Amino acid sequence: MTGPTPESPARLAAALLDWYDRHRRHLPWRAPPGTRPDPYRVWLSEIMLQQTTVPVVAGYFQRFLERWPTLEALAAAELDEVLHAWQGLGYYARARNLHACARRLAADRGGQFPTEEKELRALPGIGRYTAAAIAAIAHDRPATVVDGNVERVIARLRAVETPLPAAKPLLYRLAAELTPERRPGDYAQALMDLGAGVCTPRKPGCHACPWQGACEGYAKGTAGSLPRRVPKRPRPLRHGVAFWLMREDGAVLLRRRPEKGLLGGMIELPSTPWRAEPWELAEASAHAPEALPWQALPEPVRHGFTHFEIELLVAVAESADSSCAGENGDIWCPPARFSEHALPTLTRKLVRYAARHKPRPSAA
Ligand code: ADE
Repeated sequence: MTGPTPESPARLAAALLDWYDRHRRHLPWRAPPGTRPDPYRVWLSEIMLQQTTVPVVAGYFQRFLERWPTLEALAAAELDEVLHAWQGLGYYARARNLHACARRLAADRGGQFPTEEKELRALPGIGRYTAAAIAAIAHDRPATVVDGNVERVIARLRAVETPLPAAKPLLYRLAAELTPERRPGDYAQALMDLGAGVCTPRKPGCHACPWQGACEGYAKGTAGSLPRRVPKRPRPLRHGVAFWLMREDGAVLLRRRPEKGLLGGMIELPSTPWRAEPWELAEASAHAPEALPWQALPEPVRHGFTHFEIELLVAVAESADSSCAGENGDIWCPPARFSEHALPTLTRKLVRYAARHKPRPSAA
């Protein structure tokens, strides 16, 4: 049996860069060949691309740039405007950190991004991966950029059998051995493109890969099954009841979540606490914004967060008192104007469900 041809890191990098020069993706945040990338665009795209796919990010990226073409413009925006524009991208902590980072850089560094990974990591929302991506792509520093795509490529190239996540430090070391001094920014993006378009999770396109001759996973016939993973534990399921309280004038009660924690500062329908046991409506009513004859809609609405899933029943009622002002932080808003608020995906699902299924308002 013939093994793969051993290749020096320099030759592997050269082969990948050559491939990239012919096959690079045209992405809205990418500087055209031979031009200097704008660190603001690189940073913005990298934050958006954390946990969100390229096609989804493309539209958001363009809209953000039209509205806030510079870091200073974004720093001058109100947080609520940014959260609102972020709506649909999920993980709102990213938007808060984005805004905080813009303000910090505008206030302390004249709007300039640091070039060193260590300094980049000290900024809100910038972890190891993003710091390396900005250092490499925006400043052409030889930083090792390792995301899920890169882990897959390296696990195959070196036939790493250790399952993820335990293999992460090893994959990082193996990736670092390959990071070139020449064109490190293009190299980082080339690896991403290779992972996204050729070295794909299922059915990798090995025939089109510039590293096929050196790939140990290809030689062993295991490439398609790498990287190995320890099976994920199922996410726990939580339960809650959300309250759709409509006033006589058609306004519905919304409230702002606490600043800290899941969906911090976002606008939502009031609800019971979320817990492991399902709620009976009578028990849930104790957490309702008003003591009324609440009516539960037939099906719960289900939504997945990173670490758990939630099933929320929607309970509806009409408030007879058109002047009820609610407590501090309560917002009365007609459904036609919900789009003016930053509603998380879960709340938008609940709103859609309630709009379709709630009983017609009683005749006055
Ligand atoms: N995924 C994360 N960052 C990316 C980038 N800069 N280009 C393409 N895909 C990416």
